[in-house]
Amino acid sequence: MKSFALITAAQLLSAVSTVTAIQLSRRDNPRVFGLDIQRQHVPNPVTRERLYRRQKFVRQTLDNLETLYFANASLGTPEQQLRLHIDTGSSDLWVNADNSTFCDDSDQCEEGGTYDPEESSSFEYVNSAFNITYVDGTGASGIYAKDTFHFGGTSLEDLQFGVGYTSSSAAGILGIGYVSNEAQVHRAGLEPYPNLPQLLVDRGYINSNAYSLWLNDLDASRGSILFGGVDTEKFQGTLHTLPIIPNRQTGEYLELVISLTGLGQNGNEGSIFSAENNDAITDIISFPVLLDSGASLTYLPDDIVRYLYYDFGGEYDSSAGVAYIDCDFANQQGSLDFTFSGITISVPYNELVLEAGTRRGQPVCVLGVAPSGNEQPTLGDTFLRSAYVVYDLSNNEISLAPTNFNATQSAIQEIQSGEDGVPDASGVPGAVSTGVVGPTGSGFVPLPSPTKQGGAAGLTPELWMFDSSL
Ligand SMILES: *[C@@H]1O[C@H](CO)[C@@H](O)[C@H](O)[C@H]1NC(C)=O
Ligand SMILES: *[C@@H]1O[C@H](CO)[C@@H](O)[C@H](O)[C@H]1NC(C)=O
Ligand SMILES: *[C@@H]1O[C@H](CO)[C@@H](O)[C@H](O)[C@H]1NC(C)=O
Ligand SMILES: *[C@@H]1O[C@H](CO)[C@@H](O)[C@H](O)[C@H]1NC(C)=O
Repeated sequence: MKSFALITAAQLLSAVSTVTAIQLSRRDNPRVFGLDIQRQHVPNPVTRERLYRRQKFVRQTLDNLETLYFANASLGTPEQQLRLHIDTGSSDLWVNADNSTFCDDSDQCEEGGTYDPEESSSFEYVNSAFNITYVDGTGASGIYAKDTFHFGGTSLEDLQFGVGYTSSSAAGILGIGYVSNEAQVHRAGLEPYPNLPQLLVDRGYINSNAYSLWLNDLDASRGSILFGGVDTEKFQGTLHTLPIIPNRQTGEYLELVISLTGLGQNGNEGSIFSAENNDAITDIISFPVLLDSGASLTYLPDDIVRYLYYDFGGEYDSSAGVAYIDCDFANQQGSLDFTFSGITISVPYNELVLEAGTRRGQPVCVLGVAPSGNEQPTLGDTFLRSAYVVYDLSNNEISLAPTNFNATQSAIQEIQSGEDGVPDASGVPGAVSTGVVGPTGSGFVPLPSPTKQGGAAGLTPELWMFDSSL
C-alpha cells in the first residue's frame, strides 16, 4: 500500500478470516480507514529536538521533517497534494498557504505541499481565529477554512482546517487529539469543531472516535494508522485498557495522557521507580505521560534521566538537551520496561539508540530519552514504536500491547461504538486514573558519566543521584 487506502470490504473480510476467536459484525461497508504512514531517515534528531525544547507549543513546530511520521492526503477541488505529519499531541489539521511568508522565500515547502484557497472551488472561509503561538513568538496563524479532504478513493467534504499565512513548519500537521484542545477553543474561546476523527464519526464512516497507531521498528520506515479499527496481527497478546487522565485544573479531557507507574530495566520491573518497589533507584511513585507521535524522543523527569545517562555512560550536551552514548548499545541485549498499572511495555535498547550523524567518519548516537525539566513528561516515538496503541477518545481510554515488529499479516476489526468497543481488549482493574503532581526541574544537571570517570567504582547510583552538589 502506497497511499491513503480505504480498506475494502473484501480486504477486511479476507483479513478477518484468519482470526477465529473474535465475533465481528459483517457489513457491506466496513467502517475502518487505513492510512499508511512513513518515517524518513533520521540524519540529526538533535536539531529538531532543540526546537522542541525551546518552544512551548512544541508539537506543532516541526521544522525538521526528517524525524517524523507523515501521510499523503490532499485538499480541495481540484486536489492539492499534501504530506501531513500525524500528531496525537495536537488537534488541528493545518497546512501552509501557498503565499505564506515561510514558503514563499524558498522551495522548503515543496515536499510538504501548500494550499491555495483561490485554486479550490470547494473552499469555504470559516473564521480568522487560526493562531498557534510558540513561546519564542513564532507560530502559525491565518484562517480556518473548510474544504474537501481526500484520502485514497474517499473524499470527506467540509472538513475544517487551518491555513497558515505565517508559519514555522515546512509541512502541514494532522493533529488528531481531542477537539477540546483545538487552537480555536483555547486561543479564541470558540466552540470546538469536528476535527478529522470526530468528523469521520459524525458522518458515519467509523463507529467511534478511536484509532490505532502502529509505528513499527526503528529500522522500518513504514507504519500505519487505522481510524475506527484495530489490527490484531500488529501486536502480541491482548490489548489492555487504561484510563486517560483529565486535566488537573478543569477536569476536562484535553490530552492523551495516562499514568506511568513504574520503570525498570532488563526485565527487572520497577527497578528505576515504582510505588511497589522499595529498592527502586528513585522514590518517584507515578506521573502522567503524554503519548505523542509528534515527538521523536521520550521525555522523562530529570531524576530518572540522570540515572539513565549515568547508566549508559551518556555525555550530556546541554545546548542540544540530549546525551551522546556509545552506538554499540544498539547491538546489546537489554530493555527499558515501562509499566502502566501493571501492564508493561519493554523497549529494547536497539529502539532507544538513535544515530545522530557522524564524527570523523564514525557514527555518533544519542539516547532516545531526554530530561523533561518543567514540561509534561512525554512518551514519543522512541517509546511508541514498541507499543501498539489504541487511542479511544470516545471512552477516554488508551489500550496498549507490545508491538509485533515487522508484522506482515493483517487482521483488521472494527471498533464498535459504546463502552468496551475495542476488540481484543480488557480493562486493567484498579488502574491509576489520576495525575500526581508533575515533577519540577530547573536546568538539567546530569550525573558524571561512569565511563568518563573510569567507572563508578564504589559508588552506587543512589549516592550520585541525590548529591545536591552535582
Ligand atoms: C506519498 O507519496 C509519495 C509520492 O507519490 C510516495 O513516494 C510515498 O511513498 C507516499 N507515502 C506514503 C506514506 O504513502
Ligand atoms: C495570502 O493571501 C490571502 C488571500 O488569499 C491574504 O489574505 C493574505 O494576506 C496573503 N498572505 C500573504 C503573506 O501575502
Ligand atoms: C496570535 O496570538 C498571539 C498571542 O497569543 C499574538 O501575539 C499574535 O499577534 C497573534 N497573531 C495573529 C496573526 O493574530
Ligand atoms: C524489521 O525489519 C528491518 C528491515 O526492514 C530490520 O532491519 C529489523 O531488524 C527488523 N526488526 C525486527 C524486530 O525483526
